[in-house]
This record gives sequence, structure tokens and C-alpha cells, in this order.
Amino acid sequence: MRQMGEHTQGGGSGARELGVAAGVRTTSPSTMWRAGSSAAGPPGRPQATLLEPGARPYVGSVRGILELLRPALAERYRIDREIGRGAMAVVFLAEPVPAGRLAAIKALRPELTVVLGAGRFQREVEILGRLSHPGIVPVLESGIAGSLFYLVMPYVAGENLRTCLDRAGPLSVAEVLSIAADLAPAIDHAHGQRIVHRDIKPANVLLDGRRALICDFGLALAIDRAALEPLSSSGLVIGTPAYMSPEQATGEETVGTATDIYALGCMIYEMLTGDLPFPGATPQAMIARRLSEPPRSLRTVRPDVPARLEAAVMAALARAPSDRPASAAAFMVALAG
Ligand SMILES: Nc1ncnc2c1ncn2[C@@H]1O[C@H](COP(=O)(O)OP(=O)(O)OP(=O)(O)O)[C@@H](O)[C@H]1O
Ligand SMILES: [Mg+2]
Repeated sequence: MRQMGEHTQGGGSGARELGVAAGVRTTSPSTMWRAGSSAAGPPGRPQATLLEPGARPYVGSVRGILELLRPALAERYRIDREIGRGAMAVVFLAEPVPAGRLAAIKALRPELTVVLGAGRFQREVEILGRLSHPGIVPVLESGIAGSLFYLVMPYVAGENLRTCLDRAGPLSVAEVLSIAADLAPAIDHAHGQRIVHRDIKPANVLLDGRRALICDFGLALAIDRAALEPLSSSGLVIGTPAYMSPEQATGEETVGTATDIYALGCMIYEMLTGDLPFPGATPQAMIARRLSEPPRSLRTVRPDVPARLEAAVMAALARAPSDRPASAAAFMVALAG
């Protein structure tokens, strides 16, 4: 079982075992805003900011969602409790009837169904159906309960990487490389199927005690479609500013596989240092920083980081997509040497 602990210089570990998080996990949701918007997010980490005009923080009733879901799924699932939520959805723990492997049911927030339509959800289901990898949380089924869109996944008992980092702080070099070794092949698999995730971040990484898995393909897009849909066409930028590549953030260029490599680089930087490579008080400040300055050297903060690991992370954080590792697999080779 993988042990996650607080970093100690020299790569030692406080060896806190990953436990099953019993409480609700509130994550840093993806953000939407219009490029050039002056709306400011809260300071520090990217929090629940839905800056799209008219959008408000979630105030809807989880009980209302459960009232729709429970009777509709009663013959197949006993829905227990909320286990996570993001900007778009609420996730519940569910026990199959008859008893079997625990499931996680993700329900699109009803008020967003009106704004977004079911498109994002249908895309997530369709894309997950094309992917099959031990590092990707699969979809078991999907459907509509009344007006509520939901999808069913295997329940991953553990915590997400956001919660882990908030609890345990920076991880040891060995732990970071182990997580990267799980995630890079999963991202590579998606890229091989011509899928870009577009929202790689700690809240979308689940740790089950043995390995790390990627979830939430809600923003994922087929590369062909991404190429046809420059983000600037609508002026709407979607993703999470702290982990967002320059090309995704500015909407200037089409977004390809290099955007996920950049986000993975941001996450590895944060796992090693406890800080974002491009911190800022607002989404706009974070974006401006990555466009104008290189990140602080990793080895200044973490002298135990091998030089080749630092060089690989810095390459992944290159401003130009063409200067980043050519693939997630190549990035992993560069990281581990
Ligand atoms: N299969 C699962 N097993 C256990 N927990 C899960 C599972 N899927 C999701 N979660 C938890 O629920 C949280 C929210 O899920 P998810 O990221 O899919 O929602 P979202 O609303 O699309 O998020 P975002 O704000 O990134 O758009 C995750 O961060 C995780 O903690
Ligand atoms: Mg998410």
C-alpha cells in the first residue's frame, strides 16, 4: 500500500497512510470566465469561482438531487451519502442492489443542466467509453433520472490528491514519481485515443492507497474537435487557472496534448514544493505570471530534487507547447531518467 507522508528533506516520509476520507470532499472546481474578464477570484488557491456572467456559487439542494436520484435508481443502487463535489456535479457513494462493489454516482447539478445542457455530461460518458486504462476511472453506466443526468463509476476508496496535499503537504520525491508513473501512462493512453483531458489537477486525481487514477473527463475533448474549436471563438475559457497551459488560458491557440503535459508539470511542481509554479491572487494574475516569467527553481525550494527531475518539470512548463516533452510517456522517461 502506498504511504503518503509529509516531506522531510532527504526524501524521507512521515508515512501517514492514506485513509478513507469519510467526509465530504469539496474540491477546487473548474473555472469559466471570459478571456480578458476583470472579475477577480479569491486569493490563494483557485477556489469555487464560476465567473461566467450570471453564474453563482452552488446553493442548490443536495437533498433535491437525492430526491430525484434515489427513487429512480432504487432497484439497482442504495445511495448513501455525498462524497465529493465540483463546479459541475455532486458525487454520491452508492451500494449496488444486490450488494456488490461500491459505486460512485456523479449527478450534474440540475441548475447547470439548464445553462450547459447535457452536452458536457454526454461528452464525458462518450469519452470515458473510448478509454480503458487502470489509471482512468471508468464509467459503468449513465442515464437520466427525471431531469437529472448521472453517471455511475466504481467507487475509489481513498482521497483526492488535493485533499492529500492539503493534509500532508509536499510529498517525497519517491511518492511524486510513483504518482507520476501512474498518471503519465493514463494521460498517454487518452492522447493515444486522441482525447485531451484539459482539466488535469489534484482534485481530479484519486488515490486509492495503491495507485493514482484520473477522473473527471468533463472538459475532455477529442483532439480533432479541439483543433476545430479554438477556445477564443466564443471567448469562453474553461479549465482551472492554476494548472492551465498558456495556450488554454489565453484562448489564442488550439489546445492539444501538450496542455495536459503542462498541467501534469504544474501538479508535479506542487506535489514537490507545496506551491503552485505560478501563484497569484486571481485567475488573471496566475495566467499573467505564466506568460511573463519562468517558475521559481524547484531545487531552491527542494534541494533533494534530482537535477534531471527539475529539468523535466521545467520543460513541461515551457511557454510554447512545442518546447514541452513530445508526449506524456516521454515526460515520464525524462522525469525518472
Ligand atoms: N469514482 C469516484 N470515487 C470516489 N470519489 C470520487 C469519484 N469520482 C469523483 N469523486 C470525488 O468527487 C469530486 C468531484 O468529482 P468530479 O471532479 O468528477 O466533479 P466535477 O463537478 O466535474 O468537478 P470540477 O469542479 O473539476 O468540474 C472529486 O474531486 C473526488 O473527490
Ligand atoms: Mg473535478
